[in-house]
Amino acid sequence: MEKWWVLAVAVVSVILLLFVTTNFDNRSSRSISSLPDFLDKQAQYVLDFVFPLPPTSSTPQVQVDPPHPIFIGPNVTQCFASFSDDYQPVNCCSGIPSYTEEELLATAKDFEFPVFNESQIRVRRPVHKITDTVFMEKYRKATEIMKNLPITNPHCFARQANIHCSYCTGAFKEENYDDMLLRIHRSRLFFPFHRAYLYFYERIVGKIMGDDSFAIPYWNWDVPEGMYMPDMFMNGSLFHHKRETTHFPPRVTQNDFYKSDEFLGPEKQVEANLALMYVQMVSGAKTPELFMGCPLKAGHDGWCMGLGTIEMSPHNSLHSWTGITSLPELEDMGAFYSAARDPLFYAHHSNIDRLWHVWRELNDVKEEWSDPEWFNSFFYFYDENQQLIRVRVSDMLDETKLGYRYVPSETPWLDYKPTPLVEPNLAKKELSKLNNGLNTPLFGSNIRRLDTTFTVKVPRSIKPVAEDEIKDGKKIHTEEILVVDGILAEENVAVKFDVFINMVNESMAIKSDVRVREYAGAFQTMGGGKKINAKKVAKIDEKMKTTYKIGISDLLQDLDAVNDDSIWVTVVPRGQFDVTIDGMRIEYQRW
Ligand code: C2O
Repeated sequence: MEKWWVLAVAVVSVILLLFVTTNFDNRSSRSISSLPDFLDKQAQYVLDFVFPLPPTSSTPQVQVDPPHPIFIGPNVTQCFASFSDDYQPVNCCSGIPSYTEEELLATAKDFEFPVFNESQIRVRRPVHKITDTVFMEKYRKATEIMKNLPITNPHCFARQANIHCSYCTGAFKEENYDDMLLRIHRSRLFFPFHRAYLYFYERIVGKIMGDDSFAIPYWNWDVPEGMYMPDMFMNGSLFHHKRETTHFPPRVTQNDFYKSDEFLGPEKQVEANLALMYVQMVSGAKTPELFMGCPLKAGHDGWCMGLGTIEMSPHNSLHSWTGITSLPELEDMGAFYSAARDPLFYAHHSNIDRLWHVWRELNDVKEEWSDPEWFNSFFYFYDENQQLIRVRVSDMLDETKLGYRYVPSETPWLDYKPTPLVEPNLAKKELSKLNNGLNTPLFGSNIRRLDTTFTVKVPRSIKPVAEDEIKDGKKIHTEEILVVDGILAEENVAVKFDVFINMVNESMAIKSDVRVREYAGAFQTMGGGKKINAKKVAKIDEKMKTTYKIGISDLLQDLDAVNDDSIWVTVVPRGQFDVTIDGMRIEYQRW
Protein backbone atom coordinates (compact mmCIF):
# COMPACT_ATOMS: atom_id res chain seq x y z
CA MET A 1 0.00 0.00 0.00
CA GLU A 2 2.69 2.42 1.03
CA LYS A 3 4.69 1.68 -2.17
CA TRP A 4 1.75 2.72 -4.34
CA TRP A 5 1.56 5.98 -2.54
CA VAL A 6 5.24 6.74 -3.11
CA LEU A 7 4.89 5.87 -6.78
CA ALA A 8 1.89 8.15 -7.19
CA VAL A 9 3.78 11.06 -5.66
CA ALA A 10 6.73 10.40 -7.96
CA VAL A 11 4.53 10.34 -11.07
CA VAL A 12 2.74 13.54 -10.08
CA SER A 13 6.03 15.35 -9.47
CA VAL A 14 7.40 14.24 -12.85
CA ILE A 15 4.28 15.58 -14.57
CA LEU A 16 4.52 18.82 -12.60
CA LEU A 17 8.17 19.23 -13.49
CA LEU A 18 7.52 18.64 -17.17
CA PHE A 19 4.69 21.15 -17.04
CA VAL A 20 6.89 23.77 -15.45
CA THR A 21 9.73 23.37 -17.96
CA THR A 22 7.37 23.34 -20.92
CA ASN A 23 5.68 26.48 -19.74
CA PHE A 24 8.91 28.24 -19.13
CA ASP A 25 10.02 27.56 -22.66
CA ASN A 26 6.71 28.58 -24.16
CA ARG A 27 6.96 31.86 -22.40
CA SER A 28 10.35 32.56 -23.87
CA SER A 29 9.09 31.54 -27.27
CA ARG A 30 6.41 34.18 -27.14
CA SER A 31 8.81 36.88 -26.21
CA ILE A 32 10.70 36.30 -29.45
CA SER A 33 7.85 37.63 -31.55
CA SER A 34 7.69 40.81 -29.53
CA LEU A 35 11.27 41.61 -30.44
CA PRO A 36 11.18 43.41 -33.76
CA ASP A 37 14.80 44.28 -33.29
CA PHE A 38 15.80 40.66 -33.34
CA LEU A 39 13.79 40.05 -36.48
CA ASP A 40 15.32 43.03 -38.12
CA LYS A 41 18.82 41.83 -37.33
CA GLN A 42 18.13 38.50 -38.94
CA ALA A 43 16.33 39.98 -41.91
CA GLN A 44 17.42 38.53 -45.18
CA TYR A 45 15.96 39.11 -48.55
CA VAL A 46 16.40 36.97 -51.52
CA LEU A 47 16.88 38.51 -54.90
CA ASP A 48 17.42 36.38 -57.89
CA PHE A 49 17.73 32.79 -58.81
CA VAL A 50 20.14 32.20 -61.58
CA PHE A 51 18.32 29.03 -62.31
CA PRO A 52 15.21 27.87 -60.53
CA LEU A 53 15.08 25.05 -58.04
CA PRO A 54 14.16 21.78 -59.71
CA PRO A 55 10.58 20.57 -59.50
CA THR A 56 9.51 18.88 -56.38
CA SER A 57 10.18 15.15 -56.44
CA SER A 58 13.35 15.53 -54.38
CA THR A 59 12.02 18.42 -52.30
CA PRO A 60 10.72 17.16 -48.98
CA GLN A 61 7.07 17.54 -48.09
CA VAL A 62 6.06 20.34 -45.79
CA GLN A 63 5.62 18.93 -42.34
CA VAL A 64 3.71 20.63 -39.63
CA ASP A 65 5.49 20.57 -36.34
CA PRO A 66 3.50 20.10 -33.16
CA PRO A 67 3.80 22.82 -30.51
CA HIS A 68 6.85 22.11 -28.42
CA PRO A 69 9.27 23.63 -25.96
CA ILE A 70 11.96 25.35 -27.93
CA PHE A 71 15.40 23.86 -27.79
CA ILE A 72 17.46 21.27 -29.58
CA GLY A 73 18.86 18.45 -27.54
CA PRO A 74 19.55 14.73 -27.66
CA ASN A 75 16.92 12.22 -26.67
CA VAL A 76 19.20 9.97 -24.68
CA THR A 77 16.53 7.42 -23.87
CA GLN A 78 17.53 5.62 -27.04
CA CYS A 79 20.87 5.35 -28.84
CA PHE A 80 21.21 3.94 -32.34
CA ALA A 81 24.24 1.87 -33.24
CA SER A 82 25.66 1.89 -36.76
CA PHE A 83 28.19 0.24 -38.99
CA SER A 84 31.32 1.69 -40.54
CA ASP A 85 32.05 1.64 -44.26
CA ASP A 86 33.56 -1.79 -44.07
CA TYR A 87 30.59 -2.99 -42.03
CA GLN A 88 32.36 -3.01 -38.71
CA PRO A 89 29.89 -2.17 -35.97
CA VAL A 90 30.48 1.33 -34.67
CA ASN A 91 29.33 1.25 -31.14
CA CYS A 92 29.35 4.84 -30.00
CA CYS A 93 26.53 4.12 -27.62
CA SER A 94 28.89 3.53 -24.75
CA GLY A 95 29.59 7.27 -24.79
CA ILE A 96 26.36 8.19 -23.11
CA PRO A 97 24.41 5.02 -22.39
CA SER A 98 20.63 5.23 -22.53
CA TYR A 99 18.76 6.67 -19.59
CA THR A 100 15.02 6.41 -18.99
CA GLU A 101 13.17 9.68 -18.45
CA GLU A 102 12.98 8.90 -14.74
CA GLU A 103 16.67 8.10 -14.49
CA LEU A 104 17.50 11.34 -16.25
CA LEU A 105 15.42 13.37 -13.85
CA ALA A 106 17.06 11.66 -10.95
CA THR A 107 20.63 11.76 -12.33
CA ALA A 108 21.37 14.67 -14.63
CA LYS A 109 22.33 17.97 -13.08
CA ASP A 110 22.22 21.34 -14.76
CA PHE A 111 25.55 22.94 -15.51
CA GLU A 112 26.91 25.33 -12.93
CA PHE A 113 29.70 27.77 -13.61
CA PRO A 114 32.97 26.79 -11.99
CA VAL A 115 34.15 28.73 -8.98
CA PHE A 116 37.67 30.03 -9.38
CA ASN A 117 39.88 33.00 -8.72
CA GLU A 118 42.32 34.71 -11.09
CA SER A 119 45.23 32.48 -10.13
CA GLN A 120 43.26 29.32 -10.83
CA ILE A 121 42.45 30.09 -14.46
CA ARG A 122 43.54 27.30 -16.77
CA VAL A 123 45.81 28.74 -19.43
CA ARG A 124 45.70 27.07 -22.85
CA ARG A 125 49.04 27.51 -24.57
CA PRO A 126 50.18 27.02 -28.16
CA VAL A 127 51.48 23.48 -28.22
CA HIS A 128 54.59 24.23 -30.29
CA LYS A 129 55.81 26.64 -27.64
CA ILE A 130 55.54 24.22 -24.73
CA THR A 131 58.96 22.99 -23.67
CA ASP A 132 58.01 21.97 -20.16
CA THR A 133 58.71 18.23 -20.16
CA VAL A 134 57.13 17.71 -16.76
CA PHE A 135 53.83 18.96 -18.16
CA MET A 136 54.16 16.72 -21.20
CA GLU A 137 54.88 13.65 -19.14
CA LYS A 138 51.97 14.30 -16.81
CA TYR A 139 49.65 14.81 -19.77
CA ARG A 140 50.88 11.58 -21.35
CA LYS A 141 50.48 9.73 -18.10
CA ALA A 142 46.91 10.95 -17.63
CA THR A 143 46.01 9.99 -21.20
CA GLU A 144 47.48 6.57 -20.65
CA ILE A 145 45.47 6.12 -17.47
CA MET A 146 42.31 7.14 -19.34
CA LYS A 147 43.09 4.69 -22.10
CA ASN A 148 43.33 1.91 -19.53
CA LEU A 149 40.13 2.67 -17.66
CA PRO A 150 37.30 0.17 -18.08
CA ILE A 151 34.53 1.22 -20.46
CA THR A 152 32.17 1.35 -17.48
CA ASN A 153 34.02 4.47 -16.34
CA PRO A 154 32.83 7.65 -18.11
CA HIS A 155 36.42 8.95 -18.03
CA CYS A 156 37.63 6.04 -20.13
CA PHE A 157 39.35 7.49 -23.22
CA ALA A 158 37.38 5.33 -25.66
CA ARG A 159 34.17 6.38 -24.02
CA GLN A 160 35.07 10.06 -24.26
CA ALA A 161 35.78 9.51 -27.95
CA ASN A 162 32.43 7.81 -28.33
CA ILE A 163 30.64 10.80 -26.89
CA HIS A 164 31.82 12.77 -29.89
CA CYS A 165 30.94 9.88 -32.19
CA SER A 166 27.39 9.64 -30.91
CA TYR A 167 26.67 13.34 -31.22
CA CYS A 168 28.02 13.66 -34.69
CA THR A 169 26.86 10.54 -36.42
CA GLY A 170 23.29 10.97 -35.30
CA ALA A 171 23.06 8.21 -32.70
CA PHE A 172 20.40 10.20 -30.87
CA LYS A 173 17.08 11.47 -32.05
CA GLU A 174 16.28 15.08 -31.44
CA GLU A 175 14.33 15.60 -28.24
CA ASN A 176 10.61 15.98 -29.09
CA TYR A 177 11.11 14.82 -32.69
CA ASP A 178 10.90 11.14 -33.21
CA ASP A 179 11.68 11.44 -36.88
CA MET A 180 14.79 13.61 -36.69
CA LEU A 181 18.35 12.86 -35.64
CA LEU A 182 20.46 15.27 -33.66
CA ARG A 183 23.44 16.71 -35.49
CA ILE A 184 25.99 19.02 -33.95
CA HIS A 185 28.07 19.70 -37.04
CA ARG A 186 27.22 21.81 -40.09
CA SER A 187 25.27 24.44 -38.18
CA ARG A 188 25.70 27.04 -35.44
CA LEU A 189 25.77 24.28 -32.79
CA PHE A 190 29.29 23.41 -33.91
CA PHE A 191 31.18 25.92 -31.75
CA PRO A 192 29.23 25.68 -28.46
CA PHE A 193 29.03 21.88 -28.60
CA HIS A 194 32.77 21.48 -29.00
CA ARG A 195 33.48 24.14 -26.39
CA ALA A 196 31.46 22.17 -23.87
CA TYR A 197 33.04 18.88 -24.93
CA LEU A 198 36.54 20.31 -24.37
CA TYR A 199 35.55 22.00 -21.17
CA PHE A 200 34.70 18.68 -19.56
CA TYR A 201 37.55 16.78 -21.19
CA GLU A 202 40.03 19.29 -19.81
CA ARG A 203 38.69 18.97 -16.29
CA ILE A 204 38.70 15.18 -16.48
CA VAL A 205 42.33 15.07 -17.64
CA GLY A 206 43.26 17.60 -14.96
CA LYS A 207 41.59 15.54 -12.28
CA ILE A 208 43.40 12.38 -13.37
CA MET A 209 46.71 14.27 -13.50
CA GLY A 210 46.02 15.68 -10.07
CA ASP A 211 46.55 19.12 -11.54
CA ASP A 212 43.70 21.63 -11.41
CA SER A 213 45.56 23.99 -13.65
CA PHE A 214 45.74 21.57 -16.58
CA ALA A 215 44.68 23.26 -19.82
CA ILE A 216 44.42 21.65 -23.25
CA PRO A 217 47.21 23.07 -25.39
CA TYR A 218 46.20 24.39 -28.79
CA TRP A 219 47.50 23.24 -32.13
CA ASN A 220 48.39 26.65 -33.49
CA TRP A 221 48.19 25.74 -37.20
CA ASP A 222 47.39 29.31 -38.19
CA VAL A 223 50.94 30.59 -37.62
CA PRO A 224 53.87 29.24 -39.66
CA GLU A 225 55.71 27.87 -36.57
CA GLY A 226 52.66 25.80 -35.68
CA MET A 227 51.95 24.34 -39.14
CA TYR A 228 53.19 20.84 -38.30
CA MET A 229 51.84 17.86 -36.43
CA PRO A 230 52.92 18.93 -32.96
CA ASP A 231 55.94 17.13 -31.51
CA MET A 232 54.20 16.68 -28.19
CA PHE A 233 51.71 14.40 -29.89
CA MET A 234 54.29 12.34 -31.72
CA ASN A 235 55.12 9.91 -28.95
CA GLY A 236 53.83 8.08 -25.91
CA SER A 237 50.11 7.94 -25.27
CA LEU A 238 49.55 11.22 -27.13
CA PHE A 239 50.71 9.59 -30.34
CA HIS A 240 48.12 7.79 -32.41
CA HIS A 241 48.86 4.99 -34.84
CA LYS A 242 46.11 5.89 -37.31
CA ARG A 243 47.66 9.01 -38.80
CA GLU A 244 49.05 9.68 -42.25
CA THR A 245 52.78 9.01 -41.94
CA THR A 246 53.69 11.06 -45.03
CA HIS A 247 52.30 14.06 -43.15
CA PHE A 248 54.58 13.62 -40.16
CA PRO A 249 56.92 16.52 -39.32
CA PRO A 250 58.57 18.36 -40.92
CA ARG A 251 55.70 18.31 -43.44
CA VAL A 252 53.79 21.62 -43.39
CA THR A 253 50.07 21.27 -42.75
CA GLN A 254 47.70 21.69 -45.69
CA ASN A 255 44.98 23.75 -44.09
CA ASP A 256 42.73 23.48 -47.14
CA PHE A 257 43.46 19.80 -47.70
CA TYR A 258 41.20 17.39 -49.50
CA LYS A 259 42.07 13.74 -50.20
CA SER A 260 43.90 14.22 -53.46
CA ASP A 261 45.14 17.78 -53.03
CA GLU A 262 48.70 18.35 -54.04
CA PHE A 263 51.21 19.66 -51.55
CA LEU A 264 52.40 23.06 -52.76
CA GLY A 265 55.83 22.80 -51.19
CA PRO A 266 56.70 24.28 -47.78
CA GLU A 267 56.81 27.97 -48.67
CA LYS A 268 53.80 28.18 -50.93
CA GLN A 269 51.81 26.02 -48.58
CA VAL A 270 52.44 28.41 -45.71
CA GLU A 271 51.25 31.25 -47.93
CA ALA A 272 48.15 29.31 -48.87
CA ASN A 273 47.43 28.51 -45.23
CA LEU A 274 47.67 32.17 -44.27
CA ALA A 275 45.55 33.33 -47.21
CA LEU A 276 42.92 30.77 -46.26
CA MET A 277 42.83 32.15 -42.72
CA TYR A 278 42.34 35.64 -44.10
CA VAL A 279 39.33 34.54 -46.13
CA GLN A 280 37.79 32.34 -43.41
CA MET A 281 38.35 34.69 -40.47
CA VAL A 282 38.18 38.14 -42.02
CA SER A 283 36.77 38.82 -45.47
CA GLY A 284 34.43 35.84 -45.68
CA ALA A 285 33.18 35.90 -42.10
CA LYS A 286 31.32 39.18 -41.72
CA THR A 287 28.18 37.80 -40.07
CA PRO A 288 27.56 35.20 -37.36
CA GLU A 289 25.90 32.88 -39.83
CA LEU A 290 28.87 33.00 -42.18
CA PHE A 291 31.33 32.32 -39.40
CA MET A 292 29.37 29.96 -37.15
CA GLY A 293 27.01 28.13 -39.50
CA CYS A 294 23.31 28.28 -40.26
CA PRO A 295 20.90 29.03 -37.41
CA LEU A 296 19.58 25.53 -36.84
CA LYS A 297 16.39 25.35 -34.81
CA ALA A 298 14.27 22.54 -33.48
CA GLY A 299 12.16 20.30 -35.66
CA HIS A 300 11.44 20.28 -39.35
CA ASP A 301 10.66 23.96 -39.60
CA GLY A 302 13.99 24.89 -38.13
CA TRP A 303 16.07 22.46 -40.10
CA CYS A 304 19.09 23.72 -41.97
CA MET A 305 22.51 22.49 -42.97
CA GLY A 306 25.19 25.05 -43.66
CA LEU A 307 28.75 25.14 -42.37
CA GLY A 308 30.55 28.18 -41.05
CA THR A 309 33.85 29.22 -42.62
CA ILE A 310 36.17 27.77 -40.00
CA GLU A 311 34.29 24.52 -39.58
CA MET A 312 34.55 23.95 -43.30
CA SER A 313 38.21 24.69 -43.53
CA PRO A 314 40.73 24.52 -41.82
CA HIS A 315 38.65 22.41 -39.39
CA ASN A 316 37.41 19.73 -41.78
CA SER A 317 40.49 19.86 -43.93
CA LEU A 318 42.93 19.33 -41.08
CA HIS A 319 40.84 16.43 -39.84
CA SER A 320 41.22 14.87 -43.29
CA TRP A 321 44.89 15.78 -43.52
CA THR A 322 45.71 14.05 -40.22
CA GLY A 323 43.88 10.78 -40.97
CA ILE A 324 45.29 8.03 -43.18
CA THR A 325 44.76 9.01 -46.82
CA SER A 326 44.39 5.46 -48.05
CA LEU A 327 41.61 4.52 -45.64
CA PRO A 328 38.05 4.85 -46.95
CA GLU A 329 37.11 7.64 -44.57
CA LEU A 330 40.58 8.93 -43.75
CA GLU A 331 40.41 7.36 -40.32
CA ASP A 332 40.86 8.15 -37.59
CA MET A 333 40.86 11.95 -37.61
CA GLY A 334 39.18 12.19 -41.00
CA ALA A 335 35.84 10.65 -40.03
CA PHE A 336 33.35 11.85 -37.47
CA TYR A 337 32.90 8.45 -35.87
CA SER A 338 36.59 7.93 -35.15
CA ALA A 339 38.12 11.44 -34.95
CA ALA A 340 38.18 11.82 -31.18
CA ARG A 341 40.13 8.58 -30.77
CA ASP A 342 43.22 10.57 -31.70
CA PRO A 343 44.49 12.64 -28.75
CA LEU A 344 45.44 15.34 -31.26
CA PHE A 345 41.72 15.94 -31.77
CA TYR A 346 41.56 17.91 -28.53
CA ALA A 347 44.48 20.18 -29.39
CA HIS A 348 42.94 20.76 -32.83
CA HIS A 349 39.66 21.78 -31.23
CA SER A 350 41.38 23.91 -28.66
CA ASN A 351 42.55 26.06 -31.57
CA ILE A 352 39.10 26.02 -33.16
CA ASP A 353 37.61 27.22 -29.89
CA ARG A 354 40.26 29.92 -29.61
CA LEU A 355 39.43 31.17 -33.08
CA TRP A 356 35.81 31.65 -32.02
CA HIS A 357 37.17 33.87 -29.28
CA VAL A 358 39.41 35.72 -31.73
CA TRP A 359 36.56 36.25 -34.22
CA ARG A 360 34.43 37.72 -31.46
CA GLU A 361 37.20 40.11 -30.52
CA LEU A 362 37.83 41.15 -34.12
CA ASN A 363 34.15 41.88 -34.64
CA ASP A 364 33.34 43.16 -31.18
CA VAL A 365 30.70 40.46 -30.69
CA LYS A 366 29.27 39.50 -27.32
CA GLU A 367 26.24 37.64 -28.54
CA GLU A 368 25.79 36.10 -31.97
CA TRP A 369 22.09 35.34 -31.62
CA SER A 370 19.49 36.18 -29.06
CA ASP A 371 16.73 33.67 -29.73
CA PRO A 372 15.81 31.37 -26.84
CA GLU A 373 16.26 28.34 -29.03
CA TRP A 374 19.93 29.16 -29.28
CA PHE A 375 20.28 29.74 -25.55
CA ASN A 376 18.27 26.69 -24.47
CA SER A 377 19.67 24.01 -26.74
CA PHE A 378 21.60 21.52 -24.66
CA PHE A 379 23.90 18.51 -24.56
CA TYR A 380 24.85 15.94 -21.94
CA PHE A 381 28.40 15.30 -20.79
CA TYR A 382 30.11 13.73 -17.79
CA ASP A 383 32.11 16.01 -15.58
CA GLU A 384 35.32 15.31 -13.67
CA ASN A 385 33.30 13.66 -10.91
CA GLN A 386 31.54 11.33 -13.35
CA GLN A 387 28.36 13.29 -12.84
CA LEU A 388 26.03 13.56 -15.87
CA ILE A 389 25.62 17.25 -16.69
CA ARG A 390 23.06 18.98 -18.88
CA VAL A 391 24.80 21.97 -20.40
CA ARG A 392 23.05 24.64 -22.43
CA VAL A 393 24.43 26.71 -25.26
CA SER A 394 23.92 29.78 -23.07
CA ASP A 395 26.33 28.29 -20.51
CA MET A 396 29.09 28.35 -23.10
CA LEU A 397 28.75 31.91 -24.38
CA ASP A 398 30.54 33.93 -21.73
CA GLU A 399 34.13 32.77 -21.84
CA THR A 400 35.14 34.68 -18.75
CA LYS A 401 32.96 32.41 -16.62
CA LEU A 402 34.40 29.09 -17.72
CA GLY A 403 37.70 29.22 -15.90
CA TYR A 404 40.08 28.98 -18.83
CA ARG A 405 41.71 31.40 -21.22
CA TYR A 406 44.12 31.37 -24.14
CA VAL A 407 47.63 32.68 -24.34
CA PRO A 408 47.15 34.97 -27.34
CA SER A 409 48.83 33.96 -30.53
CA GLU A 410 50.15 36.16 -33.33
CA THR A 411 47.74 36.66 -36.21
CA PRO A 412 49.95 36.90 -39.29
CA TRP A 413 46.91 36.14 -41.47
CA LEU A 414 45.03 39.21 -40.38
CA ASP A 415 46.16 41.30 -43.31
CA TYR A 416 47.27 38.53 -45.57
CA LYS A 417 44.98 39.58 -48.36
CA PRO A 418 45.83 37.89 -51.67
CA THR A 419 46.03 40.00 -54.83
CA PRO A 420 43.99 39.35 -57.99
CA LEU A 421 45.59 37.08 -60.55
CA VAL A 422 44.44 39.31 -63.38
CA GLU A 423 43.90 43.06 -63.09
CA PRO A 424 40.14 43.24 -62.32
CA ASN A 425 39.03 45.55 -65.11
CA LEU A 426 41.02 43.66 -67.69
CA ALA A 427 39.44 40.47 -66.41
CA LYS A 428 35.95 41.86 -66.72
CA LYS A 429 36.60 42.99 -70.27
CA GLU A 430 37.77 39.49 -71.16
CA LEU A 431 34.82 37.91 -69.45
CA SER A 432 32.28 40.08 -71.23
CA LYS A 433 33.79 39.04 -74.56
CA LEU A 434 33.59 35.41 -73.57
CA ASN A 435 30.04 35.72 -72.55
CA ASN A 436 29.02 37.57 -75.66
CA GLY A 437 25.26 37.26 -76.05
CA LEU A 438 25.15 34.53 -73.45
CA ASN A 439 23.17 36.01 -70.65
CA THR A 440 20.99 33.04 -69.98
CA PRO A 441 22.03 30.56 -67.34
CA LEU A 442 24.24 27.81 -68.57
CA PHE A 443 22.13 24.95 -67.39
CA GLY A 444 18.54 26.08 -67.34
CA SER A 445 16.34 24.37 -64.84
CA ASN A 446 18.45 21.23 -64.62
CA ILE A 447 20.29 20.50 -61.46
CA ARG A 448 23.99 20.61 -62.04
CA ARG A 449 26.28 17.64 -61.54
CA LEU A 450 29.74 18.67 -60.40
CA ASP A 451 31.79 16.49 -62.69
CA THR A 452 33.49 19.32 -64.59
CA THR A 453 34.48 22.90 -63.99
CA PHE A 454 31.81 25.38 -65.08
CA THR A 455 31.08 29.09 -65.00
CA VAL A 456 27.77 30.87 -64.44
CA LYS A 457 26.83 34.49 -64.62
CA VAL A 458 24.97 35.45 -61.49
CA PRO A 459 22.93 38.68 -61.55
CA ARG A 460 23.22 41.09 -58.65
CA SER A 461 20.74 43.55 -57.26
CA ILE A 462 19.78 46.47 -59.43
CA LYS A 463 19.53 48.56 -56.28
CA PRO A 464 22.78 49.67 -54.70
CA VAL A 465 23.67 47.64 -51.64
CA ALA A 466 22.85 49.47 -48.42
CA GLU A 467 25.76 51.30 -46.86
CA ASP A 468 26.69 50.44 -43.31
CA GLU A 469 24.55 52.44 -40.93
CA ILE A 470 24.47 53.21 -37.24
CA LYS A 471 21.29 52.15 -35.50
CA ASP A 472 20.85 52.57 -31.73
CA GLY A 473 24.58 53.02 -31.42
CA LYS A 474 25.34 49.76 -33.19
CA LYS A 475 26.83 49.53 -36.63
CA ILE A 476 24.60 47.63 -39.02
CA HIS A 477 26.44 46.06 -41.88
CA THR A 478 24.85 44.65 -45.03
CA GLU A 479 26.80 41.71 -46.35
CA GLU A 480 26.35 40.42 -49.86
CA ILE A 481 26.28 36.67 -50.02
CA LEU A 482 26.66 34.23 -52.85
CA VAL A 483 24.49 31.23 -52.06
CA VAL A 484 25.14 27.83 -53.59
CA ASP A 485 21.85 26.06 -53.00
CA GLY A 486 20.90 22.45 -52.59
CA ILE A 487 24.26 20.70 -52.52
CA LEU A 488 23.57 17.01 -52.52
CA ALA A 489 26.22 14.34 -52.19
CA GLU A 490 25.95 10.72 -51.39
CA GLU A 491 25.36 10.82 -47.70
CA ASN A 492 28.36 11.10 -45.44
CA VAL A 493 31.08 11.38 -48.05
CA ALA A 494 33.65 14.16 -47.94
CA VAL A 495 33.22 16.71 -50.71
CA LYS A 496 35.26 19.64 -51.93
CA PHE A 497 34.78 22.24 -54.63
CA ASP A 498 36.38 25.66 -55.05
CA VAL A 499 34.48 28.80 -55.99
CA PHE A 500 36.12 31.67 -57.88
CA ILE A 501 34.65 35.01 -58.87
CA ASN A 502 35.46 36.87 -62.10
CA MET A 503 38.20 34.46 -63.06
CA VAL A 504 39.16 35.10 -66.68
CA ASN A 505 38.99 31.48 -67.75
CA GLU A 506 38.40 28.06 -66.35
CA SER A 507 41.83 26.60 -66.90
CA MET A 508 43.27 29.46 -64.85
CA ALA A 509 40.79 28.64 -62.10
CA ILE A 510 41.68 24.97 -62.14
CA LYS A 511 45.35 25.84 -61.64
CA SER A 512 44.67 28.41 -58.91
CA ASP A 513 44.04 28.17 -55.22
CA VAL A 514 43.36 30.34 -52.21
CA ARG A 515 46.43 32.47 -52.97
CA VAL A 516 44.57 34.54 -55.58
CA ARG A 517 41.93 37.09 -54.68
CA GLU A 518 39.46 35.66 -57.19
CA TYR A 519 39.12 32.69 -54.84
CA ALA A 520 35.87 33.14 -52.90
CA GLY A 521 35.93 29.95 -50.89
CA ALA A 522 35.85 26.18 -50.92
CA PHE A 523 32.97 24.02 -49.92
CA GLN A 524 34.39 21.22 -47.87
CA THR A 525 32.76 18.55 -45.76
CA MET A 526 34.07 15.65 -43.78
CA GLY A 527 32.71 12.14 -44.01
CA GLY A 528 30.84 10.50 -41.16
CA GLY A 529 32.31 7.15 -42.07
CA LYS A 530 29.14 5.21 -41.53
CA LYS A 531 27.54 3.22 -44.24
CA ILE A 532 24.54 2.01 -42.31
CA ASN A 533 23.86 4.83 -39.95
CA ALA A 534 21.34 5.46 -37.27
CA LYS A 535 19.10 7.17 -39.75
CA LYS A 536 18.43 3.92 -41.48
CA VAL A 537 18.18 1.97 -38.27
CA ALA A 538 15.67 4.50 -36.96
CA LYS A 539 13.95 4.66 -40.38
CA ILE A 540 14.34 8.38 -40.70
CA ASP A 541 14.18 10.10 -44.01
CA GLU A 542 16.01 13.31 -43.28
CA LYS A 543 16.71 15.89 -45.91
CA MET A 544 20.42 16.19 -46.46
CA LYS A 545 20.93 19.09 -48.84
CA THR A 546 23.53 21.59 -47.75
CA THR A 547 23.63 25.29 -48.47
CA TYR A 548 26.95 27.02 -48.97
CA LYS A 549 26.97 30.75 -48.24
CA ILE A 550 29.96 32.86 -49.19
CA GLY A 551 30.36 36.43 -47.95
CA ILE A 552 31.58 38.44 -50.92
CA SER A 553 31.28 42.15 -50.08
CA ASP A 554 35.01 42.60 -49.45
CA LEU A 555 35.88 40.43 -52.38
CA LEU A 556 33.74 42.46 -54.76
CA GLN A 557 35.51 45.57 -53.63
CA ASP A 558 38.91 44.03 -54.21
CA LEU A 559 37.80 42.88 -57.66
CA ASP A 560 36.43 46.33 -58.46
CA ALA A 561 33.01 44.79 -59.05
CA VAL A 562 30.84 46.64 -56.55
CA ASN A 563 28.87 48.44 -59.24
CA ASP A 564 28.57 45.59 -61.72
CA ASP A 565 25.18 44.10 -62.42
CA SER A 566 26.47 40.54 -62.38
CA ILE A 567 29.42 38.38 -61.45
CA TRP A 568 30.93 35.31 -63.08
CA VAL A 569 31.16 32.38 -60.75
CA THR A 570 33.45 29.48 -61.58
CA VAL A 571 33.03 26.22 -59.70
CA VAL A 572 35.98 23.81 -59.71
CA PRO A 573 35.25 20.31 -58.37
CA ARG A 574 38.25 19.01 -56.47
CA GLY A 575 37.23 15.41 -56.10
CA GLN A 576 34.12 13.39 -55.27
CA PHE A 577 32.26 14.24 -58.46
CA ASP A 578 29.01 12.59 -57.53
CA VAL A 579 27.60 15.83 -56.25
CA THR A 580 24.75 17.96 -57.56
CA ILE A 581 23.69 21.51 -56.82
CA ASP A 582 20.32 23.13 -57.37
CA GLY A 583 21.35 26.66 -58.13
CA MET A 584 23.04 29.90 -57.18
CA ARG A 585 21.71 33.23 -56.05
CA ILE A 586 22.63 36.37 -54.18
CA GLU A 587 21.19 37.23 -50.79
CA TYR A 588 21.91 39.90 -48.22
CA GLN A 589 22.39 39.58 -44.50
CA ARG A 590 22.07 42.59 -42.31
CA TRP A 591 23.96 42.43 -39.09
CU1 C2O B 1 33.06 17.30 -33.97
CU2 C2O B 1 36.37 18.37 -35.30
O1 C2O B 1 34.67 17.56 -35.08
